Amino acid sequence: MSESPLSAVATESGLPQHVAIVMDGNGRWAQSRHLPRAAGHKQGLDALRLTVRACLERGVRVLTVFAFSSENWNRPREEVSGLMDLLVMALSREVPKLSRSGVRLFFPGNRDGLSPRVQSGLDKAQQATAHNQKMVLNVCFNYGGRWDIAQAARQLVVEGKEISEGALCEVTALAHVGDPDLLIRTGGEMRISNFLLWQCAYTELYFTPCLWPDFDAAQLERAFADFAGRERRFGQTSEQVAMDRSSGHA
Ligand code: IPE
Ligand code: IPE
Ligand code: MG
Repeated sequence: MSESPLSAVATESGLPQHVAIVMDGNGRWAQSRHLPRAAGHKQGLDALRLTVRACLERGVRVLTVFAFSSENWNRPREEVSGLMDLLVMALSREVPKLSRSGVRLFFPGNRDGLSPRVQSGLDKAQQATAHNQKMVLNVCFNYGGRWDIAQAARQLVVEGKEISEGALCEVTALAHVGDPDLLIRTGGEMRISNFLLWQCAYTELYFTPCLWPDFDAAQLERAFADFAGRERRFGQTSEQVAMDRSSGHA
């Protein structure tokens, strides 16, 4: 499944093969309804379930979502522990269904700092879905783009390898799937918040004010339609892109 990071072939059909999402806006969704922030995270899980189903139906090959950032530890203690509990609950409830749908799970992120209960939940979910081939779902948990680049560089040093772009691509946390074609961020903020810093070098960015718990298949279609209208040049000119396309190279 891994492709050249700058491959345009993946998007020949106009559909992104690898979609990444910063699922933001849960807290505001809850607060606007005078509910605790935890209610927004719970509703956010429903939005993720809908999005996974919509991606499966559309034939997306890889979905990579940002569930908990390296910086989210800075939130109030009760919110952090609520998010950990929600993850463990979601895994026990959703993994059998995901597995039946052919979804393979990965959890890119730093395992250090996660409790043994959370770590074992992640390991079990990964093992239970290891044979699935329809779609990869990467749930980035305790993930940070800077952590990822640093851990990859450390790994190369330990292995005595040269630090090159190609070698880093092989050890960063999405090496098993390659780079996203499209990054969606809900919640209205126009920033990356330390998500896939290395991998988004040539990813198309889509920002929507829609709060994550309100995100659904129609919102996803809107993002796909926008993406289909983008011209991915990877540094080339429009003329070169058109020429490559007509000769069947991209
Ligand atoms: C995203 O929603 C979920 C996580 C970061 C875990 P937020 O909780 O950041 O929602 P807002 O941005 O406060 O509305
Ligand atoms: C990004 O959202 C992290 C996740 C969605 C998991 P944040 O809400 O943490 O981002 P900032 O702090 O507003 O940049
Ligand atoms: Mg937020």
